[in-house]
Amino acid sequence: MFSIIEERASDHETVVKLARLSLGNRFTDSPAARMRAGTTPVPGLSMIVLENDKLVGTIRYWPILIGAGTKAIQLGPVAIEPDHRGRGFSRILIRYSLERAQALGHRIAVLIGNPALYGRYGFEPALPRDIVLPETEDRDRLQVMALAPGALDGLSGAIRPDTIPSLTSNRLTA
Ligand SMILES: CC(C)(COP(=O)(O)OP(=O)(O)OC[C@H]1O[C@@H](n2cnc3c(N)ncnc32)[C@H](O)[C@@H]1OP(=O)(O)O)[C@@H](O)C(=O)NCCC(=O)NCCS
Repeated sequence: MFSIIEERASDHETVVKLARLSLGNRFTDSPAARMRAGTTPVPGLSMIVLENDKLVGTIRYWPILIGAGTKAIQLGPVAIEPDHRGRGFSRILIRYSLERAQALGHRIAVLIGNPALYGRYGFEPALPRDIVLPETEDRDRLQVMALAPGALDGLSGAIRPDTIPSLTSNRLTA
């Protein structure tokens, strides 16, 4: 029996351990990691999978800006305990959290990952839209998804971490 719930403060250490174990060096040394630097997870979107009270999966999102300052959220990492992979947990986490992001009013999701694997969720390559990483590594792995109709229309530019707390998000009260 498993459940998906919002990450609690007491889960933080286990979540970081699982992500670090799953991603290796890329947890701290990658374009995605650098996009997370200096920011805190987007409230309400850090979800975990519990099976028999054991944390076996995690997903988090991070605030970023695109181009002149359009707000977006960066998905990742998503990580599942090695013994629990291949059971659909990441698929459930991704779909559920994206629906939740939409319900919370987020308009654009971004991720850096294998393009062949994320199209099914609605992501598309960012490069043809001239939405780019500031560095060349992983440039062709950057993907975007509109969570609201037209949210990507006419949008272009580099992505960067959104390190300034916004009064329009509820991050200040998290
Ligand atoms: C990638 C990962 C999250 C997939 O989790 P999972 O629960 O085993 O995946 P699921 O069982 O939900 O499978 C979902 C689909 O994703 C596919 N998949 C395999 N590797 C994947 C990957 N690296 N990224 C995304 N999807 C992947 C599966 O083949 C499956 O496809 P299918 O539905 O056509 O069979 C898990 O293997 C993991 O934690 N890996 C290490 C961390 C990592 O690489 N995270 C992704 C980058 S942040």
